[in-house]
Amino acid sequence: MKIAPSILSADFGKLADEVKAVCDGGADLIHVDVMDGHFVPNMTMGPMIVEAVAKVSTKPLDIHFMVENIPFFVDMYKHLNPEFISFHIEEEKHINRVIQKIRNEGIRPAVVLNPATPVCLLEYIVSDVDMVLLMSVNPGFGGQKFIPSVIDKIKELRELAEKKNPNLLIEVDGGVNNKNAPLLKEAGADILVAGSYVFKSGDYKKAIESLRV
Ligand code: DX5
Ligand code: ZN
Repeated sequence: MKIAPSILSADFGKLADEVKAVCDGGADLIHVDVMDGHFVPNMTMGPMIVEAVAKVSTKPLDIHFMVENIPFFVDMYKHLNPEFISFHIEEEKHINRVIQKIRNEGIRPAVVLNPATPVCLLEYIVSDVDMVLLMSVNPGFGGQKFIPSVIDKIKELRELAEKKNPNLLIEVDGGVNNKNAPLLKEAGADILVAGSYVFKSGDYKKAIESLRV
C-alpha cells in the first residue's frame, strides 16, 4: 500500500518543513489539492505555491485538480513535472482528449469520481488512464467524514480493471484513517490519500506507517 499525505491539512505557515517532514516520514507521494472556488466551494494552491512544494519534496507530486477549465490548469501546472495529474470526469466533456493532453506532457493521467458518480462511467476510459481516484468524501475540504459506499466502488472498479486494464492503480481520498485503511486495502485500493489523519497526528511517521496495512 502506498501513502500520499495531502498537504491541504499541513500548516501553510511552514509548508516547506511540513513537506520535508512527511517525505522523511515515509510518504510515497505528496498529494496536492488544487481548488478553484468554482468546481468546489474552496480555493487552495496556485502554481507558485506548488512550485515551492516541488522544490523541497523528495517524493513525486500527485496533483488532484478540483477545477473547471481543466486543460488551462494542466498548462499552468505541467512544468512542475508531477507524477500524476488527476481530474474530475464530472467536469469534463472531452475526457479522452484531456487524458491524452496530460500523457503528451509525460505525466501519468488519472480520473476522479465523486462519491455519487458511478463506476460504470469508466467503462470506455479505464484502459486509457494509469490511475483512478475514488473520492470517499465530497471534494472541497479536509477533515470530513469517510463515506463507506466507496468500498463497494473499489471492488466494482477492480473487477472492471481486471478485464480492461490490469495495471490500473486505485487511489482513495477523503476521511482515510487507520480504521478504514484495512477495509480499503481488502477491497483493492493501491494508494491512500490522508490529510488530517497524518497532519493532525503528533507523529507523521507513525501515522503514515499505521495506514500501510
Ligand atoms: C478533499 C481533498 C482531500 C483532502 C483529504 O477535497 O481532495 O485530498 O485533503 O483530507 P482528509 O484526509 O482530512 O479527508
Ligand atoms: Zn485530494
